[in-house]
Amino acid sequence: MINTEIIRKDFPMLDNKKMAGKPLVYLDNSATTFKPNRVIDAINDFYHNYTSNIHRGEYELSQKADNAYDSVRGIVGRLINCSEKEVIFTSGATNSLNIVAYSYGLQNLKEGDEILLTLAEHASNVLPWFDVAKRTGAVINYIPLDEEGRLTPEGLKSVISEKTKIVAFASVTNVLGFIADVKELCRIAHQYGAIAVVDGAQSTAHIKTDVKDWDCDFLAFSAHKMCGPSGVGVLYGKKEILDAMVPFTYGGGSNARFEADGTVILKDAPEKFESGTPDMEGVIGLGAAVKYISSVGLDNIYEHEKQLRDYVVRKIKELGNVEIYNEHGDTGIIALNVKDIFAQDAASYIGSQGIAVRSGNHCAKMLHNVIGVTETIRASFYFYNTYEDADRLVEALKNCTIENCIGIFF
Ligand SMILES: Cc1ncc(COP(=O)(O)O)c(C=O)c1O
Repeated sequence: MINTEIIRKDFPMLDNKKMAGKPLVYLDNSATTFKPNRVIDAINDFYHNYTSNIHRGEYELSQKADNAYDSVRGIVGRLINCSEKEVIFTSGATNSLNIVAYSYGLQNLKEGDEILLTLAEHASNVLPWFDVAKRTGAVINYIPLDEEGRLTPEGLKSVISEKTKIVAFASVTNVLGFIADVKELCRIAHQYGAIAVVDGAQSTAHIKTDVKDWDCDFLAFSAHKMCGPSGVGVLYGKKEILDAMVPFTYGGGSNARFEADGTVILKDAPEKFESGTPDMEGVIGLGAAVKYISSVGLDNIYEHEKQLRDYVVRKIKELGNVEIYNEHGDTGIIALNVKDIFAQDAASYIGSQGIAVRSGNHCAKMLHNVIGVTETIRASFYFYNTYEDADRLVEALKNCTIENCIGIFF
């Protein structure tokens, strides 16, 4: 059980902030989350007390930074159940997925091989594959989703073949908020000799992740969507796969030695993928964020979000003027439209009521093939949201009429 009264005190952004002159309700948590004091303090501590570069200094300050940075691999490893050697720090989920596409895909795919995606994927789990397919001659195909837009094992079974080399999908989709049966999907992919790439950007902060149990080959996620700083994320990869891969960025920090004749001896994974000075304070902030959400408890987070979403969906259905696209969604994401009102106009009105929601295609630009509309409003709840936040959203949706929307523009 989550006590939001206590939890909210941890977040400066939840301390009496206003938007459009009204008390702020933040329901754009799928875009990014607020940061608790513990994360802000951890980053400040680095700036105030031990700023230095890592893995380069023989002096105490630098060693303190080394320890703080290096310890985060273990913290992340405990969150997702993997070895610290399998945790690569990146600039975010997008960067992580690009590493998989270019360092694994480009090196392993050939003409006629198949990459399976879904129409519900975020651009970051589509565009790198489009490009790698173009460069290698591989073919992109799509796993059919069920009538609600869910990825199911049956859908994967209906299209996978010996030609399939990569199956890439989100563990939680970013518009409909459906949780995939990752374990079963990975099992099917492996049965056909394909690798499974999991985009965990919307799941790691909301449901328990166990990469060993899932048996996924790669997992990508971002710190900023899990109470951590932006500009930092993680790529998990199975050790044996990482060992066989070569990086697509080179520079300091990732090599053990190089010579004038072009010889380069790279370090082992994960360091070989981390060229250049990393986002040290970001990684330290990520460590604090993981500790924080772990202390709240992922089961509690999931339960709280689910209860709030069920409550809001029930209330919204009573209004009669709102279409919901994921009535049976699994997480705190609700995708909707106010009937006869363009999503961005409705979101502007809702914003004028102090409530932050996102509108548009949410970077899932192929999803219109599934839900029939290109633009939706996305309200995304997190563990610090309250029933009062939910009621404020419902009230704003109730009053979201054409007249009121026009009223905010003129
Ligand atoms: C499902 C999904 N994948 C990938 C990303 C990309 O994350 P980032 O922008 O942090 O790299 C997002 C961001 O919204 C997402 O929702």
